[in-house]
Amino acid sequence: MVTRVFSGIQPTGLVHIGNYLGAIKAWVELQHRYESFFCIVDYHAITAPYDPSQMQKNIFDAAVINVAAGLDPRVSTIFVQSHVPEHTELAWLLNSIAPMGRLTRMTQFKEKSRLFREEINAGLFNYPVLQAADILLYKASVVPVGEDQVQHIELTRDLARKFNVTFGDTFHEPEAHLSAAPRIMGLSDPDRKMSKSIPGSYIALADHPDKVRQQILRAVTDAGPETGKPMSSGTANLFILMSQFSPPETYERFRREYNEGAIRYSEMKRVLADDVVDALTPIREAAEDLAARPDYVRQILGDGACKARRIAQRTIVEVKLKMGLL
Ligand code: TYM
Repeated sequence: MVTRVFSGIQPTGLVHIGNYLGAIKAWVELQHRYESFFCIVDYHAITAPYDPSQMQKNIFDAAVINVAAGLDPRVSTIFVQSHVPEHTELAWLLNSIAPMGRLTRMTQFKEKSRLFREEINAGLFNYPVLQAADILLYKASVVPVGEDQVQHIELTRDLARKFNVTFGDTFHEPEAHLSAAPRIMGLSDPDRKMSKSIPGSYIALADHPDKVRQQILRAVTDAGPETGKPMSSGTANLFILMSQFSPPETYERFRREYNEGAIRYSEMKRVLADDVVDALTPIREAAEDLAARPDYVRQILGDGACKARRIAQRTIVEVKLKMGLL
């Protein structure tokens, strides 16, 4: 049995270094080891308020930045969720075995329904079932995601198990694959995760170097290390970024200075900013090149949807047969 990787990202306007370190970097590595599917999940994105006139641009930009960051269309299948209607078909079928109570307790549902109090729609509630369908449609067993998605992958496992028990062995129970930095916190508010909905909290992969530097220099830290006190969340977050973007000796040097109480955060931030700019510059440049070739980008997504659909249709036929619908 081939090992398949599946993951997805919402087309919500920009991709930040939290997405990159939590998920995209792992996708890029895993694609050379396993058969890989990467989906731009537009049907998930419409469960929150959005601007329809921007959706096609956001989908295009999501494709561009992910390919620029290293997703290789020659080895990975990259496609848009709504181009493969079997995603919503399987979601409906899985809805019939998804426990309401469990969906009510989903952290992301609870958080988002607090945020969009006026706008709690059934799509937001069923969001994790669609996510399970995304993964199970391809019988994927490895799902690289950030920590905030782990609960959804656990639900996916449970739905796979329940389906297998009820209708006969069909699905793998997929596992979340967490990176070394699965939860990047906001730069302006390090007690909340980095998010595109919190201005000042993120660095976008396509940000100009001046903006990247400015965001890092403004990042919240503390007044300095104090003996006996744990490291503040802002400083810890900068160290995590440094562990991902800077050479090990740079990280170790600042850790040593922190332990000795001799650290100067302004210097640490300057060094980190240079290393982040160095890492993001080739991605930004590749994205600019790709954006100038829209036909090529659309072709990647068209080819991806054809390939994904062949597999998706096979799974739907198998599932409907098992459920007595064929
Ligand atoms: P989305 O679009 O919010 O985020 C895409 C990926 O980025 C990760 N991520 C982070 N990782 C570390 N630190 C952060 N601050 C941070 N913010 C985001 C997310 O965990 C995610 O891996 N529901 C999913 C999309 C989805 C999906 C799927 C994922 C739909 N179907 C099937 C995997 C498999 C989401 O909203 O991701």
